[in-house]
Amino acid sequence: MRVPTRSTTAFVPPTSRLTDVRTRPSPRPIGRVGAVPAVRGTPLRVKSAVKYSGRSDSLRVAATATDAPLGVFKLEYDISKDDATKSADWNEPVIVAVSGAAGQISNHLLFKIASGEVYGQDQPVALRLLGSDNSREALEGVAMELEDSLFPLLREVSIGIDPMDVFVDADWALLIGAKPRGPGMERADLLEMNGAIFVGQGKALNEVAKPTCKVCVVGNPCNTNALICMENAPNLDRKNFHALTRLDENRAKCQLALKAGVFYETVTNVTIWGNHSTTQVPDFVNAQIGGEKAMEVIDDSEWLETDFTPAIQTRGGLLIKKWGRSSAASTAVSIADAIKSLVTPTPEGDWFSTAVCTDGNPYGIEEGIIFSMPCRSNGDGSYEIVEGLEINDWLRERIKKSEDELTKEAECVSHLTGKLGGACELMGAEADTMLPGEV
Ligand code: LMR
Repeated sequence: MRVPTRSTTAFVPPTSRLTDVRTRPSPRPIGRVGAVPAVRGTPLRVKSAVKYSGRSDSLRVAATATDAPLGVFKLEYDISKDDATKSADWNEPVIVAVSGAAGQISNHLLFKIASGEVYGQDQPVALRLLGSDNSREALEGVAMELEDSLFPLLREVSIGIDPMDVFVDADWALLIGAKPRGPGMERADLLEMNGAIFVGQGKALNEVAKPTCKVCVVGNPCNTNALICMENAPNLDRKNFHALTRLDENRAKCQLALKAGVFYETVTNVTIWGNHSTTQVPDFVNAQIGGEKAMEVIDDSEWLETDFTPAIQTRGGLLIKKWGRSSAASTAVSIADAIKSLVTPTPEGDWFSTAVCTDGNPYGIEEGIIFSMPCRSNGDGSYEIVEGLEINDWLRERIKKSEDELTKEAECVSHLTGKLGGACELMGAEADTMLPGEV
């Protein structure tokens, strides 16, 4: 029987909290905000309840001093007392670092992860939450809500604003935080601004995360942000970097199911090719409905080409129009789906979409970019690209457009990926292609 590691509750004193990453000699443990006990079937037995002593003082300090601690309370728990009640086959906790942890997407995602829905009901989780200086109090609020939810599998919650702290020993890094494009900004400006964030996070992952860490980039423009992150983290396997296109896949499955009048589960083998932008290609050519070709079941090429395709490409924009902000709950669901697809074996004959490094890909896509393709996993967190899909002229032409876009984006950020030169051709509004949310 494997016994879950006891959650320690070391409290990091305020002094070094905001030490500059570049000058710090070695990574150090981060302050634990909460160490949440496993309580399967038993009342919560704690040695000492949540300690608020000093909490209000700390918060007052936090409001006025830049080096105030973020970890301001702790809960001590003797996990060995739970031995009799916990499941015999629990694993060691998986350490999941999440950036943008105080944002709306995370607010949905973290509770799914903590519930066991994502990594499995026998898999304890340690959450490491990365926020920004502006979101430090909100981050504490998130941690408090996680504590208050009494998730049995949630072993530990930590918060911080320095990726060098938060990414220590991470098994997974879910990089959600990024700045949205503001008025008057070109896509190239966004690439530059968010790119800088992903340089720092890539370097931090390189230095302090487990070399086997899996990275899923959600912050837009996610494909190129993932590229920047990957190029700045040479200690990590390039195959372990993903950009999220599962949301687009889910959107495509839903629309195909609605058109065909079937349940979503019936729709399989849906690929999103390319960039998570308006050039993405939702592949109805290889999609299946109830094991039959979707094109034959739907039997309406005009709808597939002129309604379905742009509807998926621009779905994020429509949602922003309706909501007044970008998708959050459905994005969180799709991140959970994307992780589940890597930690559980892919059903026979099916595949899922994720944007991965094109090195050695079987479709002749330019190497060295992050491009969404059909993948399968044996459930150990790795994947392989599915070969042999039919690429007809319609698909080829559009896949090429998305490839060109990503190649141009890669050139725009070449100074952030250690490559030489590269003229940035995404400057003008005409040449500019958009994120789903920018339409
Ligand atoms: C989405 O697809 O919903 C988002 O990526 C849109 C956005 O720009 O936030």
